[in-house]
Amino acid sequence: RFCPCATGRTQQYCTSAKNISIRDALTSLDTGSNIRIRGWVRSVRSQKNHLFLHVSDGSSLQPLQVIANSDLNIRGLTFGCAVDITGSLEKSPSQKQKVELQAQRVEVVGECDPVDFPFKIKERHSLEYIRQFPHLRCRTNSFGSLLRIRSEAAAAIHSYFRDNGFVQIHTPIITSNDCEGAGELFQVEVKNPHFFSVPAYLTVSGQLHLEVMAGAFPAVYTFGPTFRAENSQSRRHLAEFYMAEAEISFIESLEDLMKVMEDLFKTSTEHLLSQCAEDMGLFHKFISPGQRVRHDTLSIISYTEAIDILSRNSEQFTFKTEWGCDLQTEHEKFLVKHCGNVPVFVTDYPYDLKPFYARDNQDQPRHTAAAVDLLVPGVGELCGGSLREERLELLKTRLARAGLEDTYAWYLQLRQFGSVPHGGFGMGFERYLQCVLGVKNIKDTIPFARSSRSCLL
Ligand code: 4AD
Repeated sequence: RFCPCATGRTQQYCTSAKNISIRDALTSLDTGSNIRIRGWVRSVRSQKNHLFLHVSDGSSLQPLQVIANSDLNIRGLTFGCAVDITGSLEKSPSQKQKVELQAQRVEVVGECDPVDFPFKIKERHSLEYIRQFPHLRCRTNSFGSLLRIRSEAAAAIHSYFRDNGFVQIHTPIITSNDCEGAGELFQVEVKNPHFFSVPAYLTVSGQLHLEVMAGAFPAVYTFGPTFRAENSQSRRHLAEFYMAEAEISFIESLEDLMKVMEDLFKTSTEHLLSQCAEDMGLFHKFISPGQRVRHDTLSIISYTEAIDILSRNSEQFTFKTEWGCDLQTEHEKFLVKHCGNVPVFVTDYPYDLKPFYARDNQDQPRHTAAAVDLLVPGVGELCGGSLREERLELLKTRLARAGLEDTYAWYLQLRQFGSVPHGGFGMGFERYLQCVLGVKNIKDTIPFARSSRSCLL
């Protein structure tokens, strides 16, 4: 079949048709132009002598409508098949779209058996259903939107840090430390047992490596995968998740740290609402405006105030609400509701609840650390942060009490040579997406979810 453009080439090899993404085609003003698109068929219907196709290529939620003459005789054209189409972009007479493609050539590149294909034409499949097909779910509208939003959210986080003078540090994935001291480590097994000469693990947090860098840079960040062998089947825990972590030097108060956490949260969310409005709309369609996360108002309470609030309502909880207890998910949810369903900072946790690096508030009679968590509606804890103990003697005593003085000799040295007050935090990326999209299960926010008893693909 020769191209009508008079170059003498067959349509398949004609270069007069401009390769264009569906997103660009949908907003193009260049009607009458000859274009080529490649993608997957989302719907097919025939009417009189025409076939009406909706084709997607991952660049936008909205598909491009393609109209093909029935006598093009297209073999294997079904829902889900892959196509390569050239034709003329025309103004659409329909209200539903501005443009449509009048096809001159439709080639089925890869057939798709609609009977065996787990997704059905025009059916709305639940996130739980599509989760069973991690190798195919990117082909659904909802997961396509999620992946575009996720990509844009990652870019927004990087932009926030870059725009505010943070230097990106690639912290290691393999490490010999358990930063959080919670023992939820994946150990790296090497065939040669002498390879590292020390036990090696997948990182649970890049914090300690960022603290090294905070000895030379005023503001650093990292954004990469972290791993925790938490034996949890909850809807907010993954074994492999991404974390955005920041470390800031010469910072003296939790307020200064909370300001950065709040700014990151607000700026990224505003970016998504403006840049991914259509994709975000797909998720927000299923939650009422009142349930959407607020990013304009944040609340602050101390841990001690939080315990007072919870104790007054202790009959509602399974877990204890005494001063000194860790806050459980049920407590976090209650506190968020109590504060008007807005994100809430909880500050100054009991000293003994926090890891060795948290700065001692040296207060009486209740001994607290300068640590803060940000709790958000629908999810609970989104960020954890603290001022770090920069005073050599205090840190030495605490590490010695835990028998970790030798393990962290290098960390102690950071306090010996030009130590400065500093602090930082980590924000769980998948929990962030859960919160802004109103997604119930964290497994629906990551391309390939890993959790206890689940490592498909
Ligand atoms: O509160 P966490 O444990 O803090 C740290 O790791 C600090 N070292 C970070 C720092 O200060 N640089 O974890 C931070 C966040 C949590 O608030 C949560 O959002 C997320 O990481 N997170 C998880 N997300 C998914 N699955 C899990 N198993 C998670 N564990 C933590």
